[in-house]
Amino acid sequence: FIPDAVLRVSVETITQSCMPPKDVLLINGTSPGPELRLTEGRTYWIRVYNDLPNDNTTMHWHGLTMAVSPFSDGTPQASQWPIPPLHFFDYEINIPVGMAGTYFYHSHVGFQAVSATGPLIVEDSGPIPYDYDEEKIIFLQDVFSKDDTTIEQGLVAKPFVWSGESAMILVNGNGGGTSDTTVCNASLSIINVDPKKTYRFRIIGGTALSFVSFAIEGHNTLTIIEADGAYTQPYNTSYLQVGTGQRFSFLLNTQASPPKKTFMMQFEARSRPTVTRGFAVLNYGSEPKHAPYPPATPPMTLPATTVGFLDYVLRPLIQDEPFPTAAQVTRRVTVRVHQEELGGRTVWVENNFPWTEDTPREPYLVSLYKNDGIEFPSMQRALANSGLDPVTVAFPAEIGEVLEIVIQNTGSEAGGVDAHPFHAHGKHYWDIGSGPGTYNAAENEKRLSGTSPVKRDTTMLYVYDTSTSNNTDAGWRAWRLNVVEPGVWMIHCHILQHMIMGMQTVWVFGNETDLIRGVPIPEVEGYLVYGGNVLGNE
Ligand code: C2O
Ligand code: CU
Repeated sequence: FIPDAVLRVSVETITQSCMPPKDVLLINGTSPGPELRLTEGRTYWIRVYNDLPNDNTTMHWHGLTMAVSPFSDGTPQASQWPIPPLHFFDYEINIPVGMAGTYFYHSHVGFQAVSATGPLIVEDSGPIPYDYDEEKIIFLQDVFSKDDTTIEQGLVAKPFVWSGESAMILVNGNGGGTSDTTVCNASLSIINVDPKKTYRFRIIGGTALSFVSFAIEGHNTLTIIEADGAYTQPYNTSYLQVGTGQRFSFLLNTQASPPKKTFMMQFEARSRPTVTRGFAVLNYGSEPKHAPYPPATPPMTLPATTVGFLDYVLRPLIQDEPFPTAAQVTRRVTVRVHQEELGGRTVWVENNFPWTEDTPREPYLVSLYKNDGIEFPSMQRALANSGLDPVTVAFPAEIGEVLEIVIQNTGSEAGGVDAHPFHAHGKHYWDIGSGPGTYNAAENEKRLSGTSPVKRDTTMLYVYDTSTSNNTDAGWRAWRLNVVEPGVWMIHCHILQHMIMGMQTVWVFGNETDLIRGVPIPEVEGYLVYGGNVLGNE
């Protein structure tokens, strides 16, 4: 057995940009880790080694469907036991045709994804539907002054200790920026371009927290052609908003005779108490001798959050299956998300329950495969409790259901509303929009009529009015999907702090019969037991 790729998760004390040295998780020695380029229509095996001395890890292939190999989804205590220190796990990654696009991989344990992450590009097996000369990646990350362990411990402490805001937005691993609190003079990432060409930029929201507004000085037309791994009809915009977990491709036509050589790419976080910034340089011609530093004054005024950005306007290039109408929906599940105090801790709950990976339990998928008498999510209990089975803290669904999932933000008990990028594992869902206040199905149906929504895997819950600090500025986001793939698929806010504080849900599609029939027990050695794969056992 020879894996197609190997990723090693390790920890080193390093200086990121101009931050003080601290322990940082790396993948194959860098953060972001290496760019993985896979092709749709093929199956890959990727071996992940946990070289961390003290911590578990896993790897998640953000945005890819693991329908063929649900045990490879990388969610600790949901799809698998986490990989203990000095162990490995082999992930089977089957990429159906039609999934060409922009993705990323990241650890799904604790706060690790802040740095244990990297780009994953799925190439077209056939002709690319858009013409361009070259492509470039913009990989966004946050950086905090505290290390991961300190941040995690603070978030679950009684009383709770916040991580601190992100100090700057890193672009392809390089600083710097100037936030309200940090000035960082570190050399910037340089993206070299030639005049009069068309570039495909793939922008990846690998941030832990920051919801990023982005524009390029002197270049006012960005043509979106892909969102979350699916081609869209071209859509022109002058700026982008990228929440954590979101990806876009846009085409950029470079100028024929640029008035200067370098133009700033500016990134700014929104919906946070302070503004976190980052910069990179769009450089015409050959590499400059000295990498430029962040400008003392940001050259552009980026838009404030535009609520509903791209909602109801983005169209799929190809509608791969018919969009189910409201009449075809068999069940609507409303997930109310809310921050509250629970037993001295500050937690985020969904329908009154937080979900965290560190609750001692056998991973749901392992239980399904083993059929070992551990309680499965019960549909009956769930239906009696707004979709959530309180015993297993999971949302069951039956194969064949047509679900409408409404995520209803109800803010925080203490007052105040946050923005949340909600991410779905398993497959891409039709994004049927967002809005302020409470979801009104009939009204939304009117807005949808005659449109053809895109499928996404990560979309935003917005903050609607920052002038008040009460719950009236919260809102909703809604998705529709056909329940086809048996497996255990998480839906969660992609802000790592919020995940650690409980803002995660586990969806169990199908029962053990559907699962074993559809996806036999993985031939991954040691899958069923914690610590099954030991070094030396390869
Ligand atoms: Cu990138 Cu469960 O997420
Ligand atoms: Cu959140």
